[in-house]
Amino acid sequence: MLTLEAFAKVNRSLVVRGRRPDGYHEIDTLFETVDLSDRLSFSEAETLGLRSDDPSIPSGESNLVLKAARHLAAEAGVPARGQVWLTKRIPSGGGLGGGSSDAAAALRGFSALWRVSPGADDLRRIAAGLGSDVAFFLHGGRARGTGRGEVVAPLPDAERPEWLVLVFPPFPMPTPDVYRALGAPELTGGDTPPNLSASVPGEFPDRNDLEAAAERLRPELAEIRRRLADLGARSARLSGSGSTVFGVFAGPDEAERVRRRLVGGLPEGTRTRAARTLSRAEFERRSAPEAARGGER
Ligand code: C5P
Repeated sequence: MLTLEAFAKVNRSLVVRGRRPDGYHEIDTLFETVDLSDRLSFSEAETLGLRSDDPSIPSGESNLVLKAARHLAAEAGVPARGQVWLTKRIPSGGGLGGGSSDAAAALRGFSALWRVSPGADDLRRIAAGLGSDVAFFLHGGRARGTGRGEVVAPLPDAERPEWLVLVFPPFPMPTPDVYRALGAPELTGGDTPPNLSASVPGEFPDRNDLEAAAERLRPELAEIRRRLADLGARSARLSGSGSTVFGVFAGPDEAERVRRRLVGGLPEGTRTRAARTLSRAEFERRSAPEAARGGER
C-alpha cells in the first residue's frame, strides 16, 4: 500500500482579466499551498476503484481521481487498475482545490503503483485536461497561475509561513455559477498577455475579483470577511470562487485566538480551522508516495 497527502490551496490574489471565446476566464492568480490535506492510499487490485470516508464524494467515473488514473494509464500504455481509499478533509466546493489536489495526487500515486514515469510535459497536459487548478498541485508551494489557471510558474517560498484562519461555510459554491454571476467582459484582441518576467510576489494585488459575485449570491460570505477584518486580519479574502473565506494573521497564536473568538457568531454549521502556508520542500516531501509503515494501515 502507498499513501500520500493531497494538500489544499488558497488564492492569495485573483484577478479576472476577461471572458475568453471558449467560455473560460483568463485569470492571474497567486496560489499558496496550506497545511490542510486529504489522504490517498493506493493498493493493487484487478480493477480500478475508489472508496472514500465521505459518502458525498462521487465514487464513479466522474471522480477526478479515476479520470486522472484513466488518462495516465492511456498515456503510459498500461492497464488502469488499483484501489484508492480517499480520506477527505478538504471541503468540496470550498475553493480550496480539494478535488484538483486529489487528482494530482492520483497522478503521483498511480505512477508509483504502476512504476511508470510520465514526463513533465505529459503530466502538465493531463493535469490541464482534468481541470484548471490541477497543474498547480504538480508544483505546490507558492506559484503564479495564468491562462485559466493552468499555466503555472512556481515562485520562491515566502521568507516565513503565513498564518491563516480558514472559515468553511456550510454550503458549497459551484464555480461556474460564480463566474457567470461575475458577468465579466469578453477579452478583446487588444488585451495584452500577462508579463511573467514582472511576477514578483509583492506585485500581486490584495484582491479576489470573484468576491463581489460570490457575495451577491451568498451575502453571508461578506459578513464573514467583515468579522475577520474586525478581528485584525491583515487581509480577509474569499479563496477562489468560495465558499471558504480566510483571514491572514501575524502568527499561530493570534490565528488560534481569532479562530476561537469567531466561533459562535458565524452561520450555523460553519467550521473553522487555523492553518499555515507550506514551503515547496515540505509539499514535495509530504506529497511523495510512501509505502505505509507497519501499524499505519
Ligand atoms: O477547469 P474547471 O473544471 O475547474 O472549471 C470549472 C468551471 O469553472 C468551468 O466550466 C468554467 O465555468 C469556470 N471557470 C472559468 N474560468 C476559469 C476557471 C474556471 O470560467 N479560469
